Amino acid sequence: MDEDKKQPPRPIKPMVSKGGIALKGECTVAGDKSISHRALMFGSQVIGTTKIYGLLEGEDVLCTAEALRSLGVTISREHDKWTVIGVGVGGLCESLDVLDMGNSGTSTRLLMGLVTPYNFTTFFTGDDSLKSRPMARVITPLTQIGAQFQARDGNRLPLALKGTDTPLPINYTLPVASAQVKSAILLAGLNIPGITTIIEKEATRDHTENMLEYFGFNVQRQRLDDGSLSISVTGQPHQKLANYEIFVPADPSSAAFLAVAALICPDSDLLIRNICVNPLRIGLFTTLKEMGAKIEFLNERKIAGEPVADIHIKYSQLKAVTVPASRAPSMIDEYPILAVAAAFAKGETKMLGLSELRVKESDRLNAVLSALTACGVSARAEGDDLYVKGSPKIKGGATVTTNFDHRIAMAFLVMGMASTEPVTVDDATAIATSFPNFSDLCNSLGARISAPRPTHPSNPSPIVVAIDGPAASGKGTLARRLAEHLNLEYLDTGSLYRAVGMKVIYAGKDPSNLTDAMEAARTIDIEDLANPRLRQERIGQAASIVSAFPEVRSALLEFQREFARKSALSGRGAVLDGRDIGTVVCPDANFKFFITATLFARAKRRHKELQGQGIEVVFDSVLEDLRERDERDEKRAIAPLRPADDAYIIDSSKLDASEVFKKSNDLINKTIKNTSS
Ligand code: S3P
Repeated sequence: MDEDKKQPPRPIKPMVSKGGIALKGECTVAGDKSISHRALMFGSQVIGTTKIYGLLEGEDVLCTAEALRSLGVTISREHDKWTVIGVGVGGLCESLDVLDMGNSGTSTRLLMGLVTPYNFTTFFTGDDSLKSRPMARVITPLTQIGAQFQARDGNRLPLALKGTDTPLPINYTLPVASAQVKSAILLAGLNIPGITTIIEKEATRDHTENMLEYFGFNVQRQRLDDGSLSISVTGQPHQKLANYEIFVPADPSSAAFLAVAALICPDSDLLIRNICVNPLRIGLFTTLKEMGAKIEFLNERKIAGEPVADIHIKYSQLKAVTVPASRAPSMIDEYPILAVAAAFAKGETKMLGLSELRVKESDRLNAVLSALTACGVSARAEGDDLYVKGSPKIKGGATVTTNFDHRIAMAFLVMGMASTEPVTVDDATAIATSFPNFSDLCNSLGARISAPRPTHPSNPSPIVVAIDGPAASGKGTLARRLAEHLNLEYLDTGSLYRAVGMKVIYAGKDPSNLTDAMEAARTIDIEDLANPRLRQERIGQAASIVSAFPEVRSALLEFQREFARKSALSGRGAVLDGRDIGTVVCPDANFKFFITATLFARAKRRHKELQGQGIEVVFDSVLEDLRERDERDEKRAIAPLRPADDAYIIDSSKLDASEVFKKSNDLINKTIKNTSS
């Protein structure tokens, strides 16, 4: 392919994890990925409303939600509640566009099943990892039902699926142990007249069956004489209006990373709450217990048909075991993290029958092997079996290639927590597909995961820089330049108030009405800050009005503090600019600047800026507008604009942006040098 015509490269985010830590405390992890996908899909198949609490808001599940919307389902979110308005079995409609399933194999395969019994065509694509994964395993049974496929070589995405309105019920024995294939067929079966049956020789996760039961569909499970399981669904049911509620328990596959981290980091003691402990998902915990891990399931209970428990884990000296191939379906996603645990266990751990690992988000068998070897662990693969020799001391010190695989990235960040030298992963962005708050959560329990060291040579530890000043003083320009130069994260806090103003104005409401302003303030999120409308002059005016309300200020205070706290914790540091950063938001900032200029100089700057944007305004009205804003900012009851007592004041009336930058950067450098020498 012509290099120039390729899509622009995805931004990558390397992360490093340092050792010498213990994980302590209590936490929970985000909702179970498999259950979250299914809650949305089954919610779409009833006639009525399904409210879902605790849905995993990872990229994979968001892809499912988006695809269902394209197929005509109404899905909305309010705080932590997701609502699906079902269209009923047979009620989907053709998507106007290609369904982009991102990185998610589960979304793709299950939705292929769902759209098979419809007389329309659906186009599926995904990211590079998904485009390399085999789809024949679903194409074969769905073709028997009556769908037709046009796929890329090797039955890979992108593909077109032409469904049928005369689908046939099938009786299908799964050739691979795959919950995705089973679920695709059962989802198709919902809209096929008669009884669709699958037979599985090895049990795979049964969330689909549990949910079919919970939603009142006719599903039968029957153990056969040879020990295999037959699962049947009766299609095209008579449906009645009914509403449902689903509470998604926390994901055991995500909890696995924290559990192994606690087991291999001395002194750790961790309680992870509300984990789904469905027996078909907890093969890893069974294996770890066999390895001598101190793991207890407490407070076992059932939530929405799924067994749930709190899991207590303490640092343990592990010993090697042999993991039989028959356990693979109940821990298929956990081998990368088990391999990390095995690296610290006494003896050689054998993991047998891992062929399915080769067709996950990456060839995980190879990825794990290369990463272990790079970290100084003695490991080898023989056919589809993996052998790992443990040792109490692992060197680490490597950069691991993740190939956009979330589980490889998380597993080796955990490795870094217990190895002698830090472990870096080349790209941690894939973690957002299943466990968006992974590094923050680990860090809050004691881990040290961060972006690799800032590039600025004299900035060895994260700093927070607070910049305040009146409108058009040049504080934003300074903040951006410092952020870029020192590799710090940047938050223009003025844009938060602008976002509130924008929401009020575009909702046709009144910025000087407290209730309207608060309603907008409560719903701000980071994506609003990228909206180009924020720069409009009328939005600036609305921002100045809403920012005078103490209630609005305190509603946004936590957002700003959290931003500074997180960026310092991640090891990167931050610059925040606004009107009360040094005085209220970050009174402990390492550096505080107050940038000011005469009203006249600022009005001249703003006037020029507006003219540059092709906006014709008279100078006097710009001056008058700034005067009014200054007055509001300085006189408001809460957090009025003033320099912090320890702020470094720069009058920029006679300086250009480069001179202001040089003054502040010199001051930062001098202070850092003095404190580090
Ligand atoms: C899943 C099934 C498993 C698993 C995946 C989620 C599901 O895949 O690896 O993360 O939700 O059904 P296979 O069915 O391909 O084994």
